Amino acid sequence: MRIGVLTGGGDCPGLNPAIRGIVFRAIDFNYEVVGIFEGWKGLIKNTSKTLTLEEVEEIISKGGTILGTSRTNPTKKEEDMQKVFENFKAMNLDALIAIGGEDTLGVANKLHQKGLPVVGVPKTMDNDLSCTDFTFGFDTSVTIAIDALERLRDTARSHRRVMVFEVMGRHAGWVALYTGIGGGADWILIPEKSVEVDKMCEHLKKAHARKKYAIVVVSEGVQLPSANAEKEELDAFGHMILKKRGIGEAIAEEIEKKTGIETRTAAIGHIQRGGSPTLFDRILGTRVGVKAVELIQEKNFGKMACLKGNEVIAAPLSEAVSTLKTVDESWVNFANKLIK
Ligand code: F6P
Repeated sequence: MRIGVLTGGGDCPGLNPAIRGIVFRAIDFNYEVVGIFEGWKGLIKNTSKTLTLEEVEEIISKGGTILGTSRTNPTKKEEDMQKVFENFKAMNLDALIAIGGEDTLGVANKLHQKGLPVVGVPKTMDNDLSCTDFTFGFDTSVTIAIDALERLRDTARSHRRVMVFEVMGRHAGWVALYTGIGGGADWILIPEKSVEVDKMCEHLKKAHARKKYAIVVVSEGVQLPSANAEKEELDAFGHMILKKRGIGEAIAEEIEKKTGIETRTAAIGHIQRGGSPTLFDRILGTRVGVKAVELIQEKNFGKMACLKGNEVIAAPLSEAVSTLKTVDESWVNFANKLIK
């Protein structure tokens, strides 16, 4: 039995522990693991190599993905879809593990519906995938963001400034929410909620009067009512490429104008996607990787290995990719209780 494994979409810490978990468990069943390079691109182009124990043994602490990744969407062109099926055969594969977020697993689901024996492993630093309580990558990226926030607090306090801290998170505000709560920010802006500029500025004035600085955490996916979204570029899956939006800068300008307090902004960007995975992400990555191989052994295809409570279970891929898990009202209410 030969299992193909690929990592697609944005990288995040925890991918290598997952790949390692797959290879380790495959050894128990005498399965050979073939690493496919750069996500779906590797299946279109037929680029891969066998992954041995020696190759993965020490990657548990490594950030990124040893396989490389891309945001290639094979479902956009019929000929690419054909190539995927052809190369699955050419690589002599019996099953495929796709490690990814909503886009990669959305493709995996379509391929499964077309008859390919596929199993999914969820990853995303955005933590916005349904059917799983957490995805690996989230814990590490928020831990990095909190460290950055604390550094920003020092300089904000010295200069008596408001500091706007922009973090990643495209459609869901989990990264901003956890960074803001965990780092003790004064205001948190997430894509799920419209920006109440006046209310925010009133609160920042109050916080600044008390402690001489204030911190705002904003998710990169937030939009000001005045913004022109139509101008923004889309990626292969139709998502906005947010690198040019500059919401942190725009929010900082509004705050300075309305409060008269000197305001600066910092965007963490891809820094929060790199580095060694935290313990949580190492354990979760390993657990879902191991489970994915067990699903293959059971011929339980079309499923995703995921965390529910403290159990790793199998959920249908179709359900996992049907809706995004965004921040709900109960979390918003909880965060509001901490605004003082
Ligand atoms: O989906 C994960 C994510 O990190 C988002 O938070 C962010 O908007 C996007 O990827 C950035 O993508 P790229 O690495 O392609 O610039």
